[in-house]
This record gives sequence, structure tokens and C-alpha cells, in this order.
Amino acid sequence: MGKTLLSASLLSADFTNIESEVKKCEENGVDWIHYDVMDGHFVDNITFGFAFIEQSKKHHNLLCDVHIMISDPFLYARRFCRLGADSLTFHYEACKSNKQIFQIIDDIHQCGSLAGISVNPKTPIEVIYPFLHSLDLVLIMSVEPGYGGQPFDFSVLEKVRKLRKYLEENEIKNVKISIDGGINGKTAPLAKEAGVDVLVSGSYLFKAEDFKATVEQLKK
Ligand code: DX5
Ligand code: ZN
Repeated sequence: MGKTLLSASLLSADFTNIESEVKKCEENGVDWIHYDVMDGHFVDNITFGFAFIEQSKKHHNLLCDVHIMISDPFLYARRFCRLGADSLTFHYEACKSNKQIFQIIDDIHQCGSLAGISVNPKTPIEVIYPFLHSLDLVLIMSVEPGYGGQPFDFSVLEKVRKLRKYLEENEIKNVKISIDGGINGKTAPLAKEAGVDVLVSGSYLFKAEDFKATVEQLKK
């Protein structure tokens, strides 16, 4: 396993100063920028969509890690990739069938982007095993999707361990494990110990008094 990567969730950034927020990430060792797209239907919150991603992306060169919490990922996956999602992660719970999941992964790869699937805290990790040979990323939700600033659900650490073990036993080397929700100075080391490659952090990172020190703390 390589070095832990940090993906900064813009959900907790200052939207009125997005250019300086993404530059701050770029200059202080953040690896990816995490965009949380919510449609008010798959989750009850509504955030931002195409234009916001397209425009803010112009101000940074970090990997554009788009997490779509929307009801119809099949309809929109290609569009997000074409406008700049270097990695596109959709929800298992939003899909109609395994066949459709393979179609979405294929659509994402045809656009040249990385494909990720996300599972909610209550969804068993085994449901995504059939797709692992085609995926680049598995995003394990450690809070119910919808809002930043919620407390970490410690029960998902077991899912991370299980998935890490499965990847190792089956010699699947190209899939990264990401964790999203409630990541802070206390939960980050536990997530890393369990086998996570990518930490997504929103409120803890953007509300920190010392941004650079917090990036270092989370990544170390
Ligand atoms: C929640 C989002 C997260 C959120 C994490 O549905 O997917 O990316 O921004 O925020 P924190 O780090 O504050 O839990
Ligand atoms: Zn997210």
C-alpha cells in the first residue's frame, strides 16, 4: 500500500472564494479535490452541478474527484466525465441492476476517467465484489450521505478491513479504498490502519485554524 492520499471535500469550503480555496489545497499538499454533487432526491440536500465543477476546475491542477449522490447515475455519468471529472464515483444504492453498474463503469472508462462506486454505511461491502476487477475506486461512506460535519460511524472500519483483505487475497491491485465522512485527527489514523488509501475530508480540514498543519496531520 502506498502513501495515504487526501481528497478535500469542497462542500465545507467558502463558495464565494472558491478560487483561493482550491489554490490553498494545491499549495498545501492536498492530493485530490472532492466534489459532492447532490440532487435533492437520492439525498435530501442539493449542492452544485456541472457549471460549478467546470469553472472551479480551471483554478487547480489536482485530480478532480467527483462523488455523485444522485438518483440516475446512468443518465449523467458521461456528462460529468466529459466536463472534467478525472474520477467519477456513483452510488451502488442508486443503480437498478448489476448490468447497469457495469454499463456505467464502462461509460466512465470510455471517457478516459477513473471509475468509483460508493456504498452507504448500512450497505454490506460484499455487494460490490462482482465489480472489483473493473473498478478503480471504492468509496466507503462513514456517514449517511447528504451533509458535511456528521460524526464518524466506527462500524464501517470493519468493512474497510474486509475489503482490504479481499483485495489482497484476490490479488486485485488497482483498486483504491477511499473513506468519506467524519474524518478528523482521531478517525484518520483508524481508517488508515484499517486499510484506506484515500481520506476525504471536508469540515475538519476547511474549518481548521492551521490548514497546512491539518493536511500534514491527516496524511502522516
Ligand atoms: C457527505 C459527503 C462528504 C462530506 C464530508 O455526503 O459525501 O464528502 O463533505 O464532510 P465531513 O468531512 O465534514 O464529514
Ligand atoms: Zn463525498
